[in-house]
Amino acid sequence: MDELESPTLVVRKVSTRKRHRDVKSNQTPEPKKTSASRVFSEEKQECEEETGCTTEAGKQCYDQSSDSDEDLFGEYDSFAEETSFLAQLDNAGRNVTDFDNYVTSCTVKKRNVIISHPADKDIMNKHSTFNHILGQHMPAVTQNVIDEDIAGAGEVDELPCSQLLLPEENSVPLPVVFSSNIGNCDNNYLKSYTVTEQTSADSNVTDKTANKRKSLQDHIKSTLAGNAKVQVPQISRSKHLKEAAVAEEINIAMKAIDSTVENLDHGPFYGLPTKVKDLFTQQRGIKELYDWQHTCLTLPSVQQRRNLIYSLPTSGGKTLVAEILILQELLLRQQDVLMILPYVAIVQEKVRGLSGFGLELNFLVEEYAGSKGRFPPIKRRKKKSLYIATIEKGHSLVNSLIEVGRIEDLGLIVVDELHMLGEGSRGAILEMTLAKILYSCKTTQIIGMSATLNNVNELQQFLKAEHYTSDFRPVKLMEFVKLRDSIYEVDTKAEDCFAFSRLLNFKYSSNLQKMDPDHLIALVTEVIPLHSCLVFCPTKKNCENVAEMICKYLNKEFLNHKHKEKCSLLDDLKSFGDGTICPTLKRTVPYGIAYHHSGLTNDERRLIEEAYSTGILCLLTCTSTLAAGVNLPARRVILRSPYVATDFLKRSQYKQMVGRAGRAGIDTAGESILILQEKDKVQVKDLVRKPLENCYSNLLLNSCKGIQSLLLSLIGLKIVRSPEEICKFIYGTLFSVQYQQLSEGKSLWDIVKDALEYLIEKCLITAKKGCENEGQEISCILEITQLGHATYKGSIDLSYCDLLYKDLKKGLEGLVLDSLLHLLYLVTPYDMISQYNPDWMLYFRQFSQLSAAEQKMAVNLGVSESFLAKKASGHSVKKSPDSDIVNRFYLSLVLYALLKETNLWTVAHKFNMPRGFVQNLLNSTAVFSSCVLHFCEELEEFWSYRALFTELTKKLTYCVKSELIPLMEISGVLEGRAKQLYSAGYKTVVHVANADPEVLIKNVDHLSRRQARQIITSAKMLLTERIEALQDEVEELQKLPSDMPGELVSSEDTSITAE
Ligand SMILES: Nc1ncnc2c1ncn2[C@@H]1O[C@H](COP(=O)(O)OP(=O)(O)OP(=O)(O)O)[C@@H](O)[C@H]1O
Ligand SMILES: [Mg+2]
Repeated sequence: MDELESPTLVVRKVSTRKRHRDVKSNQTPEPKKTSASRVFSEEKQECEEETGCTTEAGKQCYDQSSDSDEDLFGEYDSFAEETSFLAQLDNAGRNVTDFDNYVTSCTVKKRNVIISHPADKDIMNKHSTFNHILGQHMPAVTQNVIDEDIAGAGEVDELPCSQLLLPEENSVPLPVVFSSNIGNCDNNYLKSYTVTEQTSADSNVTDKTANKRKSLQDHIKSTLAGNAKVQVPQISRSKHLKEAAVAEEINIAMKAIDSTVENLDHGPFYGLPTKVKDLFTQQRGIKELYDWQHTCLTLPSVQQRRNLIYSLPTSGGKTLVAEILILQELLLRQQDVLMILPYVAIVQEKVRGLSGFGLELNFLVEEYAGSKGRFPPIKRRKKKSLYIATIEKGHSLVNSLIEVGRIEDLGLIVVDELHMLGEGSRGAILEMTLAKILYSCKTTQIIGMSATLNNVNELQQFLKAEHYTSDFRPVKLMEFVKLRDSIYEVDTKAEDCFAFSRLLNFKYSSNLQKMDPDHLIALVTEVIPLHSCLVFCPTKKNCENVAEMICKYLNKEFLNHKHKEKCSLLDDLKSFGDGTICPTLKRTVPYGIAYHHSGLTNDERRLIEEAYSTGILCLLTCTSTLAAGVNLPARRVILRSPYVATDFLKRSQYKQMVGRAGRAGIDTAGESILILQEKDKVQVKDLVRKPLENCYSNLLLNSCKGIQSLLLSLIGLKIVRSPEEICKFIYGTLFSVQYQQLSEGKSLWDIVKDALEYLIEKCLITAKKGCENEGQEISCILEITQLGHATYKGSIDLSYCDLLYKDLKKGLEGLVLDSLLHLLYLVTPYDMISQYNPDWMLYFRQFSQLSAAEQKMAVNLGVSESFLAKKASGHSVKKSPDSDIVNRFYLSLVLYALLKETNLWTVAHKFNMPRGFVQNLLNSTAVFSSCVLHFCEELEEFWSYRALFTELTKKLTYCVKSELIPLMEISGVLEGRAKQLYSAGYKTVVHVANADPEVLIKNVDHLSRRQARQIITSAKMLLTERIEALQDEVEELQKLPSDMPGELVSSEDTSITAE
């Protein structure tokens, strides 16, 4: 598929009949069919037969993966050029015809998934409204037909092949896991993929790298020498060269296969090599799977690759199942995988955790978080990639793959914390991603997991998925509430809900009673310092206060527990803060206590989490953010009150928090205690027994912002071209499943129509009169404008896109480039403006220190010295400038100081801002800067910004002295650690990748063996990725172009095939 190219063809969507999947399997030997392999290979064959999918469909794809030279922010390739316009028209015509044929041909066979769309009646009724607005004529489709379309979604030939049932005999149960008698394996199977045996000895790694380099050089030399001899292009010469190149490639591939086969067996561990099982034991300490994990992995639906949702309580071990499925996809099916996780820190943790597997099993682990990630991803020739992404980056990745016709490379998408679908605008983005996959690629399997799902039926309908659930928890959870000095056990079956358990045993002085009316000290000292404890607090400030209060009254003996380790932690906090340490942490850490919330810097948070995981800290006071996804369990979890800020807790939040109680393998039970006041008693009873909240689509959130940006990207990606196709797409969303509950009486059609009108009004799309095409009438053709294109490519919020355009345009009139300030202003995120009010005195002082050119630029923007002087001196201002501009410029000054000083603490101090806010501002600006860069890349008039924003984004992403940047590209290496590594002599990724963990520990202060190994592994993965990319580029360069002048290239001579 790499060589396929179709210059004029626009890939808009993959037809359900023309599917391209698993082209790589053509190049690999047929695996011997063990039970698992049989399931996989037969399923594949079945799937291809069922869908008519052959490599021929690959002709639809074109390769745009030439973004080789940029490190982080590669080209996000644009759509096919103007030449494709006629093809678009043709396609649009065909699509409408297809749609009509499709809906009329669907029969009302309903399988286990039944979707009903009562709203659709409205669609047809409202066609005339839309016709009026757009001045177009919509083809008549009857209500009956639309109903059939919906029902038809359950039909066999319209189901994703991941959902097609296999004949019963194929579903051979897999061997029971980790049983001691498993061992004899069939090596033939391995021939279908390549696994390089890695040794931990760094010298070997170096040798291998050197050999690789050498062979690569020889390879280049010999091929180039061959090429050089070609003076007059002749067919025979070209054939000869091609044959030589192919022979060379085969040779290399065979060597790779030979070198690995003898080292690995395969199959016994859910079709995977024994090595995988060993890795789980060595790296995770997991010796046996839980029963539910085995059951889940051997479900017929899982073996048949149907979409799956599984829900289990927190700490149930959901991740392991997903990881095994991911490895099956990468190693057995040879397909890329996307794993979507909710937060940047969790993505980084997962990249670190899986890099070791990647190195050992020969696949790549690529990070897509913050401003890291390349769109579209590099197309790897040999290795498969596991992309680990945040929700936003996962969406951009899927968009970019659809755009370049490579979406079918993604065999599997795993979504952790699937309930995020219901969480605000991020939920809307997740829904768009999954809906696009469901619509565009029927072969990609979707797996979602969560601990807090209620309306699973609706999610199943959306994802056309099976559901597996169990109430397994490795450690029993006992829930309690505390009212006055009594502890009650939560018993949801009892009438009163709370069963008296015990009286709290404490002796408080009247002073202490006043300071600690909730008896927190009594509650925590029952477990710490020997066991761990989490105290969830309603606000950030409260976290700090509670930590200080507890320390103030703790017995001094607590200071002796793990004294040395705590001193090291304080040293680290100080050195990672460039000599500054938070005064609260300075007081609480000696007692083994710290607070944990978003006000910490990334470095501090990492140090605190590690110290808590290893038992150096025994108590964290934290906000609800710690409950989501971070794996920091505790023997006892205390909820300081049933509120998050001023809102009463939601059931799902409560579940996530109490779910942290009980550490698998350490505690025999975990307990949670919710402190409640009399006034909250009734509500708390409701809280502990009511069902979890439903998860609702957020496409209509914020005046339909979600649906507007969804439609924009659908039109931009050419997934849809007409209102009819939009409707067809919308049927596949969660919103459509929940339409009746969410639409507030508005018809689906009205919602779509309003969104289209909004996009037309904003000049983001155009609607052209329909035309007669091959006998079919097209109601209207929707096309994206250049601004629309730039907006969706840059993931720019629709409410800011015209403002951004205006600002950038104005910027060009007098761009000040003698410092970074003007550029920084242009990428300061609009949505952060309202989060901070300037300190006018500080503002004025900072302004006065700007250069004359900078001041002039500020005045041009609308920020004058006289205005600031008046505000600083407390005078009223008659005619105020635009406050958004003034506030935005203030934030730009903060960023400017950060880039100059590169010290978060100093800048936070200078501007009297919380360091967490400054860190957040920096991170958000780095992300927005890369969005603005992509925006500019699509608009010719902004060409001059491209190079500037590329550099600026890098500066913002790392915001450290330039020598540290290479080290911070290693996943999870933050500034503090990068400084340590640098000063210990590990100055590049290559240094770290080749380091010996034992030597590294000696050279770097307070670095544990586990951390050292993780850093080295991540560096090795990064290096491998780069080497692979270079090798791929070399191979690409060595290929003979298909259109060599004077060459007569016959169709067999080239792999480039026109549709
Ligand atoms: N079979 C097993 N044996 C021992 N430990 C296990 C096993 N499976 C998972 N674990 C461990 O249990 C802990 C919790 O697992 P995991 O993070 O997957 O839970 P989860 O179900 O995803 O919970 P949450 O909903 O909180 O994210 C991890 O430390 C993991 O390594
Ligand atoms: Mg989890």
